[in-house]
Amino acid sequence: MPFPHLAARYKRLLLKHLPVLVAGVLAGYIIGCNKLGIRGLLNLSQDMGGCHSNEPVADNSRPRAALVALVRNRELLGMRMAVRQIEDRFNRNYNYPYIFVNDQEFTEEFKEGIRALTNAEVSFGTLDSESWQVPEWINQTLYEEEKRTATYLHGGKDSYRKMCRFQSGYLHKHPLVADLDYYWRIEPDVEYYCDIDYDPFVYMRENGYKYGWTIAMPEFMPTVRTLWNTTMEFVNANQGLVAQNNMAEWLANGDAYNGCHFWSNFEIVDLSFYRSSTYQMFFDHLDRAGGFFYERWGDAPVHSIAAALFLNASQIHYFNDIGYYHPTILYCPQGSSTKGRCVCDEDKAFIHNTACTVRYKEVRQKIVEPEAKELAHTGPLVDFALSVEPKSQLRDANEVK
Ligand SMILES: *[C@@H]1O[C@H](CO)[C@@H](O)[C@H](O)[C@H]1NC(C)=O
Ligand SMILES: *[C@@H]1O[C@H](CO)[C@@H](O)[C@H](O)[C@H]1NC(C)=O
Ligand SMILES: *[C@@H]1O[C@H](CO)[C@@H](O)[C@H](O)[C@H]1NC(C)=O
Ligand SMILES: *[C@@H]1O[C@H](CO)[C@@H](O)[C@H](O)[C@H]1NC(C)=O
Repeated sequence: MPFPHLAARYKRLLLKHLPVLVAGVLAGYIIGCNKLGIRGLLNLSQDMGGCHSNEPVADNSRPRAALVALVRNRELLGMRMAVRQIEDRFNRNYNYPYIFVNDQEFTEEFKEGIRALTNAEVSFGTLDSESWQVPEWINQTLYEEEKRTATYLHGGKDSYRKMCRFQSGYLHKHPLVADLDYYWRIEPDVEYYCDIDYDPFVYMRENGYKYGWTIAMPEFMPTVRTLWNTTMEFVNANQGLVAQNNMAEWLANGDAYNGCHFWSNFEIVDLSFYRSSTYQMFFDHLDRAGGFFYERWGDAPVHSIAAALFLNASQIHYFNDIGYYHPTILYCPQGSSTKGRCVCDEDKAFIHNTACTVRYKEVRQKIVEPEAKELAHTGPLVDFALSVEPKSQLRDANEVK
């Protein structure tokens, strides 16, 4: 060592002051990190950055979560049917709040009709005009032309497109939803066939899942003609945003989109995903491109493409234990027509395993569980991708005006 005298001197100093140093570091830790420390008390909104640990911490708190629906006054009966089932199968034991939003004021009849079904807190809200409009950059000539010539279902409708845009980019920002950590989307006329005897929100949190789904199927391609290319523009300009272990392979047939998407009328989502700058940038890019209007991009493919590209495969969860119906498709867990805590007619559940579900399982297994055994096919394989049945017809009840 070139300066032994200095080293010796620092050693002496260090030993002399060690107790003070230790006390100082501890004090700094307490003041800086304890939320009841001085800084915390002086300013409760202060960011405690630097104190966040990457260690998984058991969180016994109740998730800030709610069941959320976009619904119209005239859908009261269907909404009551859905809430009745959700209460019976799940929420009577958990009492998560409900949030209903509408582009019109809810009637007293609607509010009373819902409140009578549950002890949980229920909130009703309307949409603001920004979230429910045709943006000013949309070329009206082109848009009118598309509405006039579209042959797909709801092709002529403003409201269906506004709904898809709202669910894609604005529902998670609605003031009633903005404070939630998780939401579970519900809709009129949906049915739940199984007792859900655990808390899916806690389950998502404990496993680090950001997106949960139960039915996957292909989109009717005329509604998403340029969605994939528009997505690829975004991806190429923002390559760092794509997750390392993404599920792009689930979506791509060579250079083209295969139409696979999660049917987002059911989705349980960690909303930090939709609030992330990545998702926001992606939505803005799509919104600017205009395909919500020049075509009829659905929130289902938009959410699904985002989840598949910007989340790791291990952050997506298939709730294959939740028997679910949305007009006119139902999913039954395997074996649930004869045993277990479901009553679900498997013969009618003709999408046990759509081509998109099978492909999802294969791709995910390759990424997340490469060591797992060959996946067991659990039912008749119905290849939607090869049929021309427009999925959009199945979404009739999903439409808002
Ligand atoms: C509290 O902290 C926030 C974030 O650092 C800051 O924006 C705000 O001005 C602070 N408020 C007061 C009263 O110091
Ligand atoms: C809108 O599109 C039409 C048809 O392509 C085009 O002729 C027109 O110039 C466009 N309008 C604007 C304001 O860009
Ligand atoms: C999308 O991009 C591919 C590859 O660049 C191209 O061949 C195709 O024509 C594009 N499709 C549309 C609808 O623009
Ligand atoms: C995906 O996993 C990689 C590797 O574990 C990690 O670095 C990255 O942050 C993850 N991405 C997201 C979106 O969580």
